Amino acid sequence: QIIYFVTPTYPRREQIAELTRLGQTLMHVQNLFWIVADDSDVCNARLDKLLDNFGIPYVHLSSPMPYLYRSQKTIPRGVSNRRAALAWIKNNNIKDGVLYFGDDDNTFDLRLFSEIRDTQRVSMFPVGLIGDYSISSPIVKHGKVVAFFDSWPAKRKWPVDMAGFAVNLSYLRKYPNATMPYKAGYEEDAFLRSIELKIDNIEPKASDCTEVYVWHTQTTKTKAPLIKIANDVLENSKTNLNT
Ligand code: UGA
Ligand code: MN
Repeated sequence: QIIYFVTPTYPRREQIAELTRLGQTLMHVQNLFWIVADDSDVCNARLDKLLDNFGIPYVHLSSPMPYLYRSQKTIPRGVSNRRAALAWIKNNNIKDGVLYFGDDDNTFDLRLFSEIRDTQRVSMFPVGLIGDYSISSPIVKHGKVVAFFDSWPAKRKWPVDMAGFAVNLSYLRKYPNATMPYKAGYEEDAFLRSIELKIDNIEPKASDCTEVYVWHTQTTKTKAPLIKIANDVLENSKTNLNT
């Protein structure tokens, strides 16, 4: 089956670095279609150039977050992007394959792809470097998911990370109302509810959820205000001229 790898991304100075690292991982994966959804009003041509160079079949979508949500205290990151990807899959009438939400800053072991490729309905597996426990994972007993280990249950029915599950597209098609709400922290739970997931149907992967093949890595952000950069440059140029 083809893997439809959905990557929300957004313009910031780390974007090209993140997508280079991710693209060069995905270059190793056969039968993968990359849906890159950028939180931007336009499709940036520089991004197309970068994506062309990987040689991976892809589509580049513009999926800006509605302005209303951008001003919230905790913004629903990547939701407009993933919704655009779901709409693209629906509009292009794609019936077969496996859907996976892979953020642009995560780290993927190539074994993840062989694990999720045969997903029949919904598969699940551990995600490393999540929250206080450093791992978020289904708990498996006799080959069945029976509970979840996650440091932020928050009354969620499905306390899992976005990177911790994959969905078969023919299964997804049965739920035309499948969607993801603009509700920070509850996107996964609500999405899995919208496809009426049953615990008995979950397919545990990664050796009954004992191996970690994806990590929720995060890139440190340092922000130098433009005015500081401008002042520094001016200051340094003066110093250099005087020596
Ligand atoms: C965590 C989860 O791992 C995400 O799956 C979830 O979407 C997110 O929290 C959330 O609900 O807030 P985290 O590392 O905290 O992820 O968030 P980011 O990596 O900053 O953002 C998640 C995705 O959305 C990334 O692919 C990022 O490129 C994208 N994003 C982020 C946007 O498209 N727009 C933004 O303004 C920020
Ligand atoms: Mn992230």
